Amino acid sequence: MKKILLFASGAGSNVENIIQYFKNNNEVAVVGVFSNNPEAKVLEKAQVHHVPTLVFNRAELNEGFVLAKINELQPDLIVLAGFLWKMPEEIVHHYPNKIINIHPALLPKYGGKGMYGMNVHKTILENKEHETGITIHYVNEHYDEGEFILQQTVNIESCQTPEEIAAKVHELEHEFFPKVIEQILNPKS
Ligand code: GAR
Repeated sequence: MKKILLFASGAGSNVENIIQYFKNNNEVAVVGVFSNNPEAKVLEKAQVHHVPTLVFNRAELNEGFVLAKINELQPDLIVLAGFLWKMPEEIVHHYPNKIINIHPALLPKYGGKGMYGMNVHKTILENKEHETGITIHYVNEHYDEGEFILQQTVNIESCQTPEEIAAKVHELEHEFFPKVIEQILNPKS
C-alpha cells in the first residue's frame, strides 16, 4: 500500500479530487490532510471522506512538530495541493524527491513569493497573457524552483476575469494532478 499525505490551505478542490480519484484503489491511500488554516474548507472536505486531518501553526511547522507527525505516517509521497506556506528545509531534507507541488501557472513565470492562487490569475490577466497553465514540480528548498514533472497549457484569450482563468486552470489541475501522483507512485503502470 502506497501512502499519500496532502497539505492544503484553502478550498481544497484538488484535495477532494485526489481523494476521490484514489478512493477505490487498493494500492494507494490518502492517509491525511494537513493544513495551516483552521478555517480552511479543505478540512470539512477531508472529514466527509473520513481522511484524518491535522491543523498546525507556523512554529509547529518550523520547529519539528509537523515533521514528527509526518514521520508517524511514513508517507511515500507528500503532495502540496494548494498549500500556501513554504515547506521548511528540515522537512524537505527528510523527504528528498518525495514532496511535489502544483503551481497554477507556467513556471518559471509567475512564481515566487506572493504568487499564489488568485494573485497569479489577476497578474496574468493584467499582463494580457494569451495562455497560462499548470506546473507540477518537485519541492526543494527554493520556493517554486524544484525540478518540473509536468506542465500543461490552456488558452485564455476568451477570459475576462481572474475567476474565469482560475476555472480553466482548475480544470487542468483536476485532470492531471491525480494521474501524475499515480505515475510517481507506480512508475511502471
Ligand atoms: C490551486 O490552483 C493551486 O494550484 C494553487 O492554489 C489553488 C488551490 O485550489 N496553489 C498555489 O498557488 C501554490 N503556490 P484548491 O484549494 O481548490 O485546490
